[in-house]
Amino acid sequence: MKFLIVGDVVGKKGIERLEKELPKLINKKNIDFCIVNGENSANGKGLRKQEYDKIKSCGADVITMGNHIYYRKEMASEYIKYKDLLIPANITNLSGNNNVVTCKNGKKIAVINLIGKVEMGEYIEKNITDPFKTIISQIDIVKSIGAELIFIDFHAEATAEKIAMGLYLDSKVTCVFGTHTHVQTADEKILNGGTAYITDIGMTGPKDSVIGLKKEIALKRFVEGAYAKYECSNNEAIFNGIIVTTDDKTNKAIEIERVNM
Ligand SMILES: [Fe+2]
Ligand SMILES: [Fe+2]
Repeated sequence: MKFLIVGDVVGKKGIERLEKELPKLINKKNIDFCIVNGENSANGKGLRKQEYDKIKSCGADVITMGNHIYYRKEMASEYIKYKDLLIPANITNLSGNNNVVTCKNGKKIAVINLIGKVEMGEYIEKNITDPFKTIISQIDIVKSIGAELIFIDFHAEATAEKIAMGLYLDSKVTCVFGTHTHVQTADEKILNGGTAYITDIGMTGPKDSVIGLKKEIALKRFVEGAYAKYECSNNEAIFNGIIVTTDDKTNKAIEIERVNM
């Protein structure tokens, strides 16, 4: 089977690029299942019903989130209603679905969303359980309902924490992919135990920006040390993600390829 996983969609320009590329790519690469991280799709912060609808209509089977789950209050109170919209499993102060098992093309495919504990900001760090403990109970849950392939979106800042998670879950799951830094890493590989791994799949968002933020605002913050309100860049977007191929007999990952357009 072929899985396409798309990195954090940022703002209007990210959505536009997704709408342009995703249906074509699904068709061209014979994709069976698609996961999109949508945590920045509503002008860089969170996701509303309108972005949910757009991402789904482009062909996403599952949408994952991250630290921006709290921004869109109207949606945040309704996460639980959307079975295919996941919030990190180790978040303790917000209700929503943390995993989903979907039957597609004869296989039971699980997706689990998880957030890191290192450098994720004080608020997140105060309101999560340990990701390394939580993920084991999540894997047990999806396996108990028959999951044959398991994909983990590990939304985290620290490279070391993501690599450690990949090695910890090697042979236990199909793929561990990182999100959140918005910069694609070139370390995609199949680990010794057969799990596909990449530290970060990158973003689908404005290219000429600081991870999606208008560069003038980012520079004001960094150079002058001054407060400047967040504004999503309106520049043209790149499209980042990965394609993972699995063996239909063993369900193990056999190939991981970066997508960077
Ligand atoms: Fe994030
Ligand atoms: Fe993000």
